[in-house]
Amino acid sequence: MTEPWPVEVAPLPPALYAVPSPLGAGILPEERPFEGELRCRRVRRVTHDVVEVTLEPVSGGAFAFAPGQYLTLRASIEGEQVERCYTISSPPTRPHLLTITVKGVPDGPMSGWLHDRLAVGDRLWASGPMGGFSVREHPSSSYLLLSGGSGITPTLSTLRTLADLAEPADVVVVHHARTPADLIERAELEALAAAHGGVRVAWVVDQPDASWHGPAGLMSPAQLAELVPDLCQREVFCCGPAGYMGAARAAFEALGGEPGRWHEESFVLTDPPAGGAPAAERADGAAYRIRLQRSGRDLECAPDATVLDAVKAAGVRLPSSCAQGMCGTCKSTLVSGEVDMNHAGGIRPREVAAGKFLPCCSKPLGDLVIDI
Ligand SMILES: Cc1cc2nc3c(=O)[nH]c(=O)nc-3n(C[C@H](O)[C@H](O)[C@H](O)COP(=O)(O)OP(=O)(O)OC[C@H]3O[C@@H](n4cnc5c(N)ncnc54)[C@H](O)[C@@H]3O)c2cc1C
Ligand code: FES
Repeated sequence: MTEPWPVEVAPLPPALYAVPSPLGAGILPEERPFEGELRCRRVRRVTHDVVEVTLEPVSGGAFAFAPGQYLTLRASIEGEQVERCYTISSPPTRPHLLTITVKGVPDGPMSGWLHDRLAVGDRLWASGPMGGFSVREHPSSSYLLLSGGSGITPTLSTLRTLADLAEPADVVVVHHARTPADLIERAELEALAAAHGGVRVAWVVDQPDASWHGPAGLMSPAQLAELVPDLCQREVFCCGPAGYMGAARAAFEALGGEPGRWHEESFVLTDPPAGGAPAAERADGAAYRIRLQRSGRDLECAPDATVLDAVKAAGVRLPSSCAQGMCGTCKSTLVSGEVDMNHAGGIRPREVAAGKFLPCCSKPLGDLVIDI
């Protein structure tokens, strides 16, 4: 007689929960750069102002990225090339299709186009993956994932990955939305938490209606302490609107959270990063020379202009999005010369060490040769 299946599975020893989560180490491939066309396979409505777009690479193949990373998408909209970043909301465990989850922004060109115009079969250009806002970069035995509004997208990829890998991590999710109708992928995340013993999700709405029986009100230290009493032991990831992130960071600090355990990502551009050395002056007051190695072009850059300004002024196309050193879209290789780069997290130290730089937030300190 054959064994009945499934055979009884012994519960996971509690000690395993103390092991820092490698999140797919040894199972998932290391991230691999991608640049090319994607084709839309599906546009699915998620809430009244959020859609999920499923994309496949036109030339086939698989993506390799870490949960929490993002892509830059480029589309031709009303005759203009528009570029924007979107977090990959699908998990790297499903590498042949990507999803992005997009909130409609009033009068926003790209989000409006993705919501109302993009159709199955349409193509867009994409490059990525980018960003270091990933639990994979900060192994820990316990996480707190905080999000507001569309800032839930890194959490979606992370939870889907943990579930697909049956990863024994201890994760608390606290998500804030304006009203119950604004909660994104609630049914899926609740099913996922029910199936995965280590995940707990708390939904909080700022403006509850009569049907709402869960926690309500804006982020505050008292609310956070009640929802996550062991907050100080957790590695914390926070993504959402600026006001929400400011309140969450203040609550984390007020409750004694260690600054090194706090990681945040913003989708919305704020003021450009302050500081940076004043632009160096050439002794003869002339502009610096920049050689674009691949295009075979020579151009000039005023000492107080960014390299991106100079490249664009010369009519050379260089993909860019935030223009603030945040998104990583303009990342390029500096073949020779030195720049004063004042970035806002869009490049990693190991990339700088490998000769990469962000032209949008870099001013020349001498003549340059760039691989563009
Ligand atoms: C690293 C990164 C990851 C991102 N991931 C996502 C994602 O997963 N899902 C998503 O919907 N958006 C995401 N964004 C925002 C996205 O890149 C676009 O900015 C957004 O879709 C609006 O583009 P737009 O062209 O329609 O409007 P824009 O002209 O770019 O923006 C119009 C205004 O809306 C503000 N805005 C931009 N995004 C939002 C938002 N989500 N909520 C409220 N106001 C906003 C902008 O600051 C601007 O003031 C991400 C941005 C970055 C930098
Ligand atoms: S355009 Fe965003 S980092 Fe340069």
